[in-house]
Amino acid sequence: MTTRILTGIQPSGTAHIGNYFGMMRRAIALQDDPLGLDCFYFIADYHALTSVREGARLAEHTREVVLDWLALGIDPTVSTFYRQSDVPEHAEAMWLMLCLTPMGLLERAHSYKDKKTRGLDANAGLLTYPVLMAVDILLYGAHRVPVGKDQKQHVEMARDLALKFHHYYGEIFTLPEADIAEEVMTVPGTDGQKMSKSYGNTINIFEEEKRLKKKIMGLPTQSIELGDPIDPETCAVMGFHRLFATPNLVEIENRYREGKIGFGESKKLLLSRVWEYFAPARERRAELAQNPDLVADILATGAAKARPIAQQKLAEMRELVGLSSLGELRAGRSSLPAASLTAPLPR
Ligand code: ADP
Ligand code: TRP
Repeated sequence: MTTRILTGIQPSGTAHIGNYFGMMRRAIALQDDPLGLDCFYFIADYHALTSVREGARLAEHTREVVLDWLALGIDPTVSTFYRQSDVPEHAEAMWLMLCLTPMGLLERAHSYKDKKTRGLDANAGLLTYPVLMAVDILLYGAHRVPVGKDQKQHVEMARDLALKFHHYYGEIFTLPEADIAEEVMTVPGTDGQKMSKSYGNTINIFEEEKRLKKKIMGLPTQSIELGDPIDPETCAVMGFHRLFATPNLVEIENRYREGKIGFGESKKLLLSRVWEYFAPARERRAELAQNPDLVADILATGAAKARPIAQQKLAEMRELVGLSSLGELRAGRSSLPAASLTAPLPR
């Protein structure tokens, strides 16, 4: 059986370099895996509703993230690429799963606690977010889920919820595993905290040149006298040089140690590296942006492939939890054993 890979990204803003190195680069590379993997990639727009409150903005971000993914290398002839909301079965499956989700499991989620601590609106969607994510994965029988480190716990929760369902109703789900690019640490944002669309500290992949310059030149650094040696291990700018595999990396590191490069010069080198790194994708993105019909067709094809799979799994769930079809009701049939049907009905 072919290994199924599945991951999603929220259109709560355009994709940033934390998304790219933490997950997108790996997901894109998996399309060419010699094992011939079956890749499912989607835009988690239901999830983005936990933080975006303006319809026009969500629609715009969705368009942007779709372009980002395609420009960076999602090949829709190889992968199934779709929008979560084009498969509304996710929302129904979530309800079935919510009803067996312990509150404690949700309250322990790092991501929820973190967002709450930062003062983000703690709505019920944010709390139950991992349950929607669990069904995103389980409906498709995904084996591996490429995500950044911060999402590992959510994938473990998907396993826990699958096991809960199995305990009450029967084994119908594949148990997924997180597939993490171990070599990539959580990428810091312009304020030194985790780069995240929810924290307004991102450097976007397709940032306009002036803004990119402003953000890179503004990266926080230690205060050090010009000419003093700097430990390259402790410098955030150097961390980005490593991510982008700046060609003369070792030389730059040596110059840091010898006090022969200031943060300003290091940042300028980084700026030109980042700009050139994404140049081919930037061109593809500009072409795609001219062709909205093509992009819409790609998403429609993706949804047409994804939806029947989700429908099939949801039908199994519905039957097991006792939401029998009208046909069964009419025929007086039930999937329950006869003994459990003998309790009198309330009058
Ligand atoms: P954001 O936190 O910006 O809203 P998402 O939650 O949509 O990003 O994350 C999409 C993917 O990118 C996830 O797999 C996540 O783990 C990864 N990711 C997000 N931010 C980072 C980061 N700063 N460093 C590494 N990976 C990240
Ligand atoms: N929660 C993920 C994130 O913020 C996005 C996501 C939603 C996802 N559903 C998913 C990732 C299913 C992997 C699988 O990054």
